[in-house]
Amino acid sequence: MSHFDDRRTFAIISHPDAGKTTLTEKLLLFGGAIHLAGEVKARGAARRARSDWMKIEQQRGISVTSSVMTFEREGITFNLLDTPGHEDFSEDTYRTLTAVDSAVMVIDVAKGIESQTRKLFEVCRLRSVPIITFVNKVDREGRPVFETLDEIAELLALDVTPMTWPVGMGGEFEGIYDLVGNRLLLPEGPSREFLGKVVEVSGLDDPKLDELLSAPGVAKLREDAELAMAGYAPFDAEAYRNGDLTPVYFGSALKEFGVDSLIAALAEHAPPPRPQPAEPAPVSPANPEVTGFVFKVQANMDPNHRDRIAFMRLCSGTFKRGMKLTPSGHGKPIAIHSPILFFARERELADEAFPGDIIGIPNHGVLRVGDTLSERPGVRFTGLPNFAPEILRRVALKDPTKTKQLRKALDDMAEEGVTQVFYPEIGSNWVIGVVGQLQLEVLLSRLEAEYKVGANLEPAPFETARWISAEDPAELKTFMDQNRSAMAKDRDDNPVFLAKSAWEVGYIADRYSKVKFAATRER
Ligand code: G4P
Repeated sequence: MSHFDDRRTFAIISHPDAGKTTLTEKLLLFGGAIHLAGEVKARGAARRARSDWMKIEQQRGISVTSSVMTFEREGITFNLLDTPGHEDFSEDTYRTLTAVDSAVMVIDVAKGIESQTRKLFEVCRLRSVPIITFVNKVDREGRPVFETLDEIAELLALDVTPMTWPVGMGGEFEGIYDLVGNRLLLPEGPSREFLGKVVEVSGLDDPKLDELLSAPGVAKLREDAELAMAGYAPFDAEAYRNGDLTPVYFGSALKEFGVDSLIAALAEHAPPPRPQPAEPAPVSPANPEVTGFVFKVQANMDPNHRDRIAFMRLCSGTFKRGMKLTPSGHGKPIAIHSPILFFARERELADEAFPGDIIGIPNHGVLRVGDTLSERPGVRFTGLPNFAPEILRRVALKDPTKTKQLRKALDDMAEEGVTQVFYPEIGSNWVIGVVGQLQLEVLLSRLEAEYKVGANLEPAPFETARWISAEDPAELKTFMDQNRSAMAKDRDDNPVFLAKSAWEVGYIADRYSKVKFAATRER
């Protein structure tokens, strides 16, 4: 029997402070994965304290690394992939989004769509990842509901369908009306939380609503809901799954409003694993052969071991512990004896896993981001991109005898996706590239702490990089010969053009029309 239809592998995308951590806690709580709200943060803090390179996280109060949380509810297994919750995100975040089948977008009702949400949304759009929207913090004063819905529709060019509607906000918050199920969710107790009080009604004109809500509250609900149902497209599951429509749920993660509806929506509408783009052909989750790809490599999860954990998304087949899988690009099969499933409460050894599940594979640096693992070699998943760096820096060693250690460190970190590294054709200063400032700090701190290499980062005379290729090798060679001072190799020996500005890229691309300049490189 195949188990992938009951898998929902998703990520939460949001701007810092919108409530992602709170919502994650509540989802896990509802899913029965943890018993105390607050554990996600507490566990995080304990883990950070043990791991020295993560001092940065502590100092800045942010989470640089991602993790995986699994919970079950009513026969559905949810795999929630966490993405770093900082504005200055890295490729890690992008790549995590390549491993999910859908996403939940959390918006602060007072702030609307913010910059980070928007960027992450664009990544989802590239891959047509369907999105459920959760408008959070309705227990506080916020912007009018219509304004929020119209902003999502306009800024993101999506159809929106409100699925629930808040009755008032802030001090006037009286509950959430479920427009689809015709139910009213009511606050209780001094903290006005949702403790499970649900009243079924026959519709918006049910007189029960007049008893349960204040007169102005119910009048506004009726008026708004009528306008909304006339003005917005009805929910269309197909349009949602194609990434053209987002159903919108209102709630308060803090007061537990809307969390239950969100889980139900994920169970009912979010897609189970889909065929994944691959060469020579897309891989269906129903394919009996085990395949997967590594979307993230993390060091030092356990400070007592120098191991790395490669996070693999299973794409097809039933994985069993001890199975031998062959990583693309290395040839030799490896036996996976101690795979890890990331349950919220603790890490547990996995005996079996199904398409959509994430498996942690401890290894000593053999597995790299972008690797395909398969029972039989020959398949290669595509679409795990390297992104053109937005910041380039030269690495200057404090102690010149440490060149070897530096090279190892830079290669390792390129492998993990912390930074990219470029080795210029001319000159001895290696160049590293990142998409966010924070990655530079992570790099320096890890060089010191893990590799005992002191280094400075100096401005580089370049601003961005492009991977180059050409149908005709002679054209490529001509280009490289004529631009030697701007040529470098990436970690895999692919030729890279280092440009002084984005403008220069355009200028050069015009002059060498046979050469392709790519801002991403698929591995
Ligand atoms: P993030 O992971 O997206 O960065 O957000 P996080 O959940 O940490 O929430 C950011 C702040 O917003 C927290 O307050 C949190 O308690 C609050 N918050 C989250 N959801 C809701 C909600 O539905 N209603 C209200 N009123 N507040 C909400 P903080 O004071 O910054 O942190 P803390 O001291 O409470 O941990």
